[in-house]
Amino acid sequence: MTLHLKIWRQKNREDKGQMADYTLENVSPDASFLEMLDQLNEELIPQGIEPVAFDHDCREGICGMCSLMINGQAHGPEAETTTCQLHMRKFSDGDTIVIEPFRARAFPVEKDLMVDRSAFDEIIAAGGFISVNTGNAQDANAILVPKENADLAMDAAACIGCGACVASCKNASAMLFVSAKVSQMALLPQGQAEASQRVQNMVKKMDDLGFGNCTNEAECEASCPKGIEITNIARMNRELLKAAVVSQTTPKV
Ligand code: SF4
Ligand code: FES
Repeated sequence: MTLHLKIWRQKNREDKGQMADYTLENVSPDASFLEMLDQLNEELIPQGIEPVAFDHDCREGICGMCSLMINGQAHGPEAETTTCQLHMRKFSDGDTIVIEPFRARAFPVEKDLMVDRSAFDEIIAAGGFISVNTGNAQDANAILVPKENADLAMDAAACIGCGACVASCKNASAMLFVSAKVSQMALLPQGQAEASQRVQNMVKKMDDLGFGNCTNEAECEASCPKGIEITNIARMNRELLKAAVVSQTTPKV
Protein backbone atom coordinates (compact mmCIF):
# COMPACT_ATOMS: atom_id res chain seq x y z
CA MET A 1 0.00 0.00 0.00
CA THR A 2 1.04 3.58 -0.58
CA LEU A 3 -0.12 6.04 2.07
CA HIS A 4 -0.06 9.81 2.30
CA LEU A 5 0.48 10.83 5.90
CA LYS A 6 -0.23 14.23 7.41
CA ILE A 7 1.47 14.16 10.80
CA TRP A 8 1.57 16.75 13.58
CA ARG A 9 5.19 17.78 14.26
CA GLN A 10 5.96 19.81 17.38
CA LYS A 11 9.47 20.19 18.82
CA ASN A 12 8.47 20.70 22.44
CA ARG A 13 5.72 22.12 24.69
CA GLU A 14 6.52 25.69 23.67
CA ASP A 15 6.70 25.09 19.92
CA LYS A 16 3.56 26.07 17.95
CA GLY A 17 3.71 22.89 15.86
CA GLN A 18 2.52 22.21 12.32
CA MET A 19 1.37 19.42 10.03
CA ALA A 20 4.00 17.72 7.85
CA ASP A 21 3.36 15.58 4.74
CA TYR A 22 5.03 12.23 4.10
CA THR A 23 4.41 9.54 1.51
CA LEU A 24 5.10 5.98 2.60
CA GLU A 25 5.26 3.11 0.11
CA ASN A 26 5.21 -0.67 0.49
CA VAL A 27 3.16 -0.66 3.68
CA SER A 28 1.93 -4.16 4.51
CA PRO A 29 -1.83 -4.42 5.15
CA ASP A 30 -0.86 -6.75 8.00
CA ALA A 31 1.26 -4.11 9.74
CA SER A 32 -0.14 -2.49 12.84
CA PHE A 33 -0.57 1.29 12.84
CA LEU A 34 2.47 1.67 15.09
CA GLU A 35 4.55 -0.64 12.88
CA MET A 36 3.62 1.63 9.97
CA LEU A 37 4.99 4.60 11.97
CA ASP A 38 8.13 2.55 12.74
CA GLN A 39 8.56 2.03 8.99
CA LEU A 40 8.20 5.76 8.41
CA ASN A 41 10.83 6.52 11.06
CA GLU A 42 13.23 3.99 9.55
CA GLU A 43 12.96 5.95 6.30
CA LEU A 44 13.25 9.40 7.93
CA ILE A 45 16.36 8.69 10.01
CA PRO A 46 18.77 7.99 7.05
CA GLN A 47 17.48 11.20 5.44
CA GLY A 48 18.58 13.16 8.51
CA ILE A 49 14.95 13.94 9.43
CA GLU A 50 14.05 13.65 13.10
CA PRO A 51 11.86 10.56 13.66
CA VAL A 52 8.25 11.11 14.65
CA ALA A 53 7.84 10.78 18.44
CA PHE A 54 4.80 8.80 19.53
CA ASP A 55 3.71 7.02 22.71
CA HIS A 56 3.63 3.24 22.95
CA ASP A 57 4.58 0.45 25.32
CA CYS A 58 2.87 -2.97 25.34
CA ARG A 59 1.55 -2.89 21.77
CA GLU A 60 -0.98 -5.47 22.97
CA GLY A 61 -3.92 -3.23 23.87
CA ILE A 62 -3.36 -3.41 27.62
CA CYS A 63 -1.15 -0.53 28.79
CA GLY A 64 -3.08 2.48 27.46
CA MET A 65 0.05 4.28 26.22
CA CYS A 66 -0.68 4.54 22.49
CA SER A 67 -2.61 7.73 22.02
CA LEU A 68 -3.29 9.04 18.53
CA MET A 69 -6.09 10.89 16.78
CA ILE A 70 -6.37 9.16 13.42
CA ASN A 71 -8.51 11.01 10.88
CA GLY A 72 -10.15 12.80 13.80
CA GLN A 73 -10.98 9.66 15.77
CA ALA A 74 -9.20 8.60 18.95
CA HIS A 75 -7.46 5.28 18.18
CA GLY A 76 -8.79 5.37 14.62
CA PRO A 77 -11.78 3.91 12.80
CA GLU A 78 -12.19 0.48 14.42
CA ALA A 79 -14.51 0.17 17.43
CA GLU A 80 -13.08 -0.96 20.78
CA THR A 81 -9.54 -1.09 19.38
CA THR A 82 -6.39 0.64 20.61
CA THR A 83 -4.05 2.25 18.09
CA CYS A 84 -1.50 -0.53 18.59
CA GLN A 85 -4.11 -3.15 17.72
CA LEU A 86 -5.33 -1.29 14.63
CA HIS A 87 -4.09 -2.78 11.35
CA MET A 88 -3.38 -1.09 8.05
CA ARG A 89 -5.89 -3.36 6.29
CA LYS A 90 -8.49 -0.98 7.71
CA PHE A 91 -7.18 1.61 5.22
CA SER A 92 -6.99 1.57 1.41
CA ASP A 93 -4.10 1.96 -1.00
CA GLY A 94 -3.64 5.67 -1.74
CA ASP A 95 -5.42 6.88 1.40
CA THR A 96 -4.48 10.12 3.12
CA ILE A 97 -4.29 9.65 6.89
CA VAL A 98 -4.23 12.58 9.30
CA ILE A 99 -2.38 11.77 12.53
CA GLU A 100 -2.50 14.12 15.51
CA PRO A 101 -1.87 13.93 19.26
CA PHE A 102 -4.71 13.70 21.79
CA ARG A 103 -5.68 17.29 22.47
CA ALA A 104 -6.85 18.52 25.89
CA ARG A 105 -5.67 21.31 28.18
CA ALA A 106 -4.82 18.75 30.85
CA PHE A 107 -2.79 16.66 28.34
CA PRO A 108 -0.02 19.02 27.11
CA VAL A 109 1.86 17.93 23.97
CA GLU A 110 5.46 17.04 24.83
CA LYS A 111 6.70 16.40 21.31
CA ASP A 112 5.03 15.49 18.00
CA LEU A 113 2.37 12.91 18.91
CA MET A 114 3.41 12.42 22.55
CA VAL A 115 1.26 13.97 25.27
CA ASP A 116 1.75 14.17 29.04
CA ARG A 117 -1.16 12.23 30.58
CA SER A 118 0.22 12.25 34.12
CA ALA A 119 -2.96 14.14 35.13
CA PHE A 120 -4.61 10.69 35.16
CA ASP A 121 -1.96 9.44 37.62
CA GLU A 122 -2.68 12.42 39.86
CA ILE A 123 -6.39 11.54 39.90
CA ILE A 124 -5.61 7.93 40.85
CA ALA A 125 -3.21 9.14 43.55
CA ALA A 126 -6.07 11.25 44.98
CA GLY A 127 -8.03 8.14 45.94
CA GLY A 128 -8.21 5.44 43.28
CA PHE A 129 -6.96 2.69 45.56
CA ILE A 130 -7.71 0.83 48.78
CA SER A 131 -5.20 1.98 51.38
CA VAL A 132 -5.45 -0.81 53.97
CA ASN A 133 -3.01 -3.71 53.95
CA THR A 134 -5.21 -6.56 52.80
CA GLY A 135 -2.75 -9.30 53.81
CA ASN A 136 -2.79 -12.68 52.17
CA ALA A 137 -5.27 -13.69 49.51
CA GLN A 138 -8.48 -14.93 51.10
CA ASP A 139 -10.68 -17.78 50.04
CA ALA A 140 -12.56 -16.65 46.96
CA ASN A 141 -15.93 -16.81 48.68
CA ALA A 142 -14.92 -15.35 52.09
CA ILE A 143 -16.58 -12.03 51.20
CA LEU A 144 -19.78 -12.50 49.27
CA VAL A 145 -20.18 -10.30 46.18
CA PRO A 146 -23.35 -10.38 44.08
CA LYS A 147 -22.53 -11.81 40.64
CA GLU A 148 -23.95 -8.77 38.86
CA ASN A 149 -21.75 -6.42 40.91
CA ALA A 150 -18.67 -8.55 40.31
CA ASP A 151 -19.33 -8.45 36.57
CA LEU A 152 -19.88 -4.68 36.55
CA ALA A 153 -16.75 -4.10 38.65
CA MET A 154 -14.72 -6.22 36.21
CA ASP A 155 -16.16 -4.28 33.26
CA ALA A 156 -15.15 -0.97 34.91
CA ALA A 157 -11.70 -2.35 35.77
CA ALA A 158 -11.07 -2.91 32.06
CA CYS A 159 -10.23 0.82 31.68
CA ILE A 160 -6.58 1.11 30.63
CA GLY A 161 -6.29 4.86 31.24
CA CYS A 162 -5.57 5.65 27.60
CA GLY A 163 -7.31 9.05 27.58
CA ALA A 164 -9.30 8.51 24.38
CA CYS A 165 -12.44 9.54 26.29
CA VAL A 166 -10.87 12.90 27.11
CA ALA A 167 -9.55 13.44 23.59
CA SER A 168 -12.94 12.65 22.02
CA CYS A 169 -15.01 14.84 24.30
CA LYS A 170 -15.71 18.41 23.21
CA ASN A 171 -15.39 19.41 26.88
CA ALA A 172 -12.19 17.36 27.41
CA SER A 173 -14.02 15.69 30.28
CA ALA A 174 -12.30 12.88 32.17
CA MET A 175 -15.53 11.63 33.68
CA LEU A 176 -15.58 8.26 31.89
CA PHE A 177 -12.08 7.46 33.12
CA VAL A 178 -12.72 8.66 36.68
CA SER A 179 -16.11 6.98 36.86
CA ALA A 180 -14.60 3.66 35.75
CA LYS A 181 -12.00 3.92 38.51
CA VAL A 182 -14.63 4.92 41.10
CA SER A 183 -17.10 2.23 39.98
CA GLN A 184 -14.52 -0.51 40.05
CA MET A 185 -14.33 -0.14 43.85
CA ALA A 186 -17.78 1.28 44.60
CA LEU A 187 -19.30 -2.02 43.46
CA LEU A 188 -17.23 -4.19 45.78
CA PRO A 189 -17.45 -4.55 49.60
CA GLN A 190 -13.70 -3.86 49.96
CA GLY A 191 -14.18 -0.43 48.44
CA GLN A 192 -16.83 0.76 50.88
CA ALA A 193 -14.66 1.89 53.79
CA GLU A 194 -13.10 4.77 51.85
CA ALA A 195 -15.88 5.27 49.31
CA SER A 196 -16.89 8.74 50.48
CA GLN A 197 -13.40 10.27 50.45
CA ARG A 198 -12.43 8.42 47.30
CA VAL A 199 -15.10 9.86 45.05
CA GLN A 200 -14.85 13.35 46.53
CA ASN A 201 -11.05 13.49 46.29
CA MET A 202 -10.89 12.06 42.77
CA VAL A 203 -13.59 14.37 41.41
CA LYS A 204 -11.97 17.40 43.07
CA LYS A 205 -8.58 16.47 41.60
CA MET A 206 -10.15 15.97 38.18
CA ASP A 207 -11.69 19.45 38.35
CA ASP A 208 -8.50 21.06 39.69
CA LEU A 209 -6.47 19.60 36.80
CA GLY A 210 -8.55 21.41 34.21
CA PHE A 211 -10.72 18.64 32.74
CA GLY A 212 -14.15 19.77 31.58
CA ASN A 213 -17.58 18.59 32.66
CA CYS A 214 -19.81 15.95 31.09
CA THR A 215 -22.70 17.19 28.97
CA ASN A 216 -23.89 13.72 27.90
CA GLU A 217 -22.39 13.75 24.40
CA ALA A 218 -21.39 10.05 24.78
CA GLU A 219 -18.37 10.53 22.51
CA CYS A 220 -16.28 9.04 25.33
CA GLU A 221 -18.20 5.77 25.25
CA ALA A 222 -18.06 5.64 21.44
CA SER A 223 -14.27 6.04 21.39
CA CYS A 224 -13.35 3.88 24.37
CA PRO A 225 -11.21 0.93 23.27
CA LYS A 226 -12.36 -1.09 26.26
CA GLY A 227 -16.10 -0.57 25.98
CA ILE A 228 -16.48 1.37 29.24
CA GLU A 229 -20.12 2.47 29.44
CA ILE A 230 -21.39 5.91 30.46
CA THR A 231 -23.61 4.25 33.07
CA ASN A 232 -20.43 4.44 35.15
CA ILE A 233 -20.70 8.24 35.07
CA ALA A 234 -24.22 8.00 36.50
CA ARG A 235 -22.88 5.70 39.23
CA MET A 236 -20.06 8.14 40.02
CA ASN A 237 -22.55 11.00 40.30
CA ARG A 238 -24.69 8.91 42.68
CA GLU A 239 -21.59 8.09 44.74
CA LEU A 240 -20.72 11.78 44.86
CA LEU A 241 -24.23 12.74 45.97
CA LYS A 242 -24.20 9.98 48.60
CA ALA A 243 -20.80 11.16 49.84
CA ALA A 244 -22.05 14.75 50.08
CA VAL A 245 -25.00 13.61 52.19
CA VAL A 246 -23.12 11.27 54.52
CA SER A 247 -19.72 12.94 54.80
CA GLN A 248 -20.90 15.31 57.55
CA THR A 249 -21.82 12.42 59.82
CA THR A 250 -19.42 9.63 58.85
CA PRO A 251 -16.06 9.50 60.66
CA LYS A 252 -13.04 9.79 58.35
CA VAL A 253 -11.18 6.51 57.75
S1 SF4 B 1 -12.57 5.00 29.98
FE1 SF4 B 1 -11.97 4.01 28.02
S2 SF4 B 1 -11.24 5.72 26.75
FE2 SF4 B 1 -11.25 6.47 28.86
S3 SF4 B 1 -9.21 6.07 29.69
FE3 SF4 B 1 -10.46 4.26 30.22
S4 SF4 B 1 -10.12 2.84 28.52
FE4 SF4 B 1 -9.43 4.84 27.77
S1 FES C 1 0.76 0.34 23.33
FE1 FES C 1 -0.19 -0.53 25.12
S2 FES C 1 -2.31 -0.29 24.68
FE2 FES C 1 -1.36 0.36 22.84
